[in-house]
Amino acid sequence: MDAANRLMRRCDELNKCSEEPDCLTRRYGSDALRQAMRLVAGWMADAGLETRRDAAGNLIGRRSSGVAPAKILLLGSHLDSVRDGGKYDGPLGVLTAIAALEPFQDARLPFDVEVYAFADEEGLRFHTAYLGSRAVTGDLDAATLAVRDADGVTVAAAMRAFGGDPDNLDSAARDPATLLGYIEAHIEQGPVLERRNLPVGVVTEIIGQIKQTIVFTGVAGHGGTVPMAMRADALPAAAEYVLAVEKIGRASPGLVATVGKMSVAPGAANVIPGRVELSLDLRHADDAVWRAKARELEAIARDIALERGLTMEISPIMATPGITCDPTLTAVLESAIRTAGVEPLRLVSGAGHDAVPLSKRMPVAMLFVRCQDGVSHNPAESVDPADVTVVITVLTKTIWELAG
Ligand code: GLV
Ligand code: MN
Ligand code: MN
Repeated sequence: MDAANRLMRRCDELNKCSEEPDCLTRRYGSDALRQAMRLVAGWMADAGLETRRDAAGNLIGRRSSGVAPAKILLLGSHLDSVRDGGKYDGPLGVLTAIAALEPFQDARLPFDVEVYAFADEEGLRFHTAYLGSRAVTGDLDAATLAVRDADGVTVAAAMRAFGGDPDNLDSAARDPATLLGYIEAHIEQGPVLERRNLPVGVVTEIIGQIKQTIVFTGVAGHGGTVPMAMRADALPAAAEYVLAVEKIGRASPGLVATVGKMSVAPGAANVIPGRVELSLDLRHADDAVWRAKARELEAIARDIALERGLTMEISPIMATPGITCDPTLTAVLESAIRTAGVEPLRLVSGAGHDAVPLSKRMPVAMLFVRCQDGVSHNPAESVDPADVTVVITVLTKTIWELAG
């Protein structure tokens, strides 16, 4: 079986590592993630990589150059998923990195290579994304470690239960002086490559974003006895807010605005909702725009609450400014794409990636691969094995070029 088809089979196998029986859900610290890491560690070992887990729970496969001290090239992506996700978002970058190293088993390279399988990029469990890659840059602070999931478990406790060590995160942080940079392959999650009939493209920028939690609080009461005029119902307020988010998103070119989560409490058909919690995800290529729109939406939420006699609270979850990929590393990737016979189309990523936090401390570059209909964060996610072959070829050529 060729490398791409083997990789497709591996993605199918990983797809079975899930917290839910009928769909793919793999949160940070879950048994499903542990199981996925066990499989990937086996494949890393088969490819001649020496495996280890770091204090944040990331899995790493290392190929030593035998030259000391050598600089280190990082490759990889993440193994966690969104809820009811697709099988390529994340695993494709980890598995193509492993496959790209296989031709070098007996070859000498002037640098070490480490493949990272990050433990949390999507932020499904704690909302605060990039826990895995932020550990690598030393940016996991005490406030993040204290964030709780829906069951009240903190990031620190989940990390410990996952075999990590929140008290020793320094050991997971990498010294930028030792690193050549980070290269990540990922599905495009958009329609551009497909429309342009190209298997791969190169990422120049990843846009910035803000995530918040908004809570409207009113008074729960009997749905049959409290007259309409006497209610402090949190749900219509939340509904008004959701429509405002959509309206502002539609009215501002380039802005994408999503409320993807809403929980209504107490949550019974005959009880007036006393509390509604929502998520907001706002993104724009110009950081000034999402910042301004976040302020505008905050004012709208306050007005809605005031008008309806409710209270409203906004908690910041995370905000990451847009990043630019490293021009030198990107040029190497572009050259490798050209050598593979493909015109290197430049793309801007609206999705977040581990390359975002890593870019604070090291050069990063990203390769996108075409996915069917641009669909992602959905079980219908699909890639063509022929395109996967191109990704593996481009990554292999990139490593050759970097080796000089
Ligand atoms: C991750 O896929 C994100 O962009 O939120
Ligand atoms: Mn994703
Ligand atoms: Mn991803």
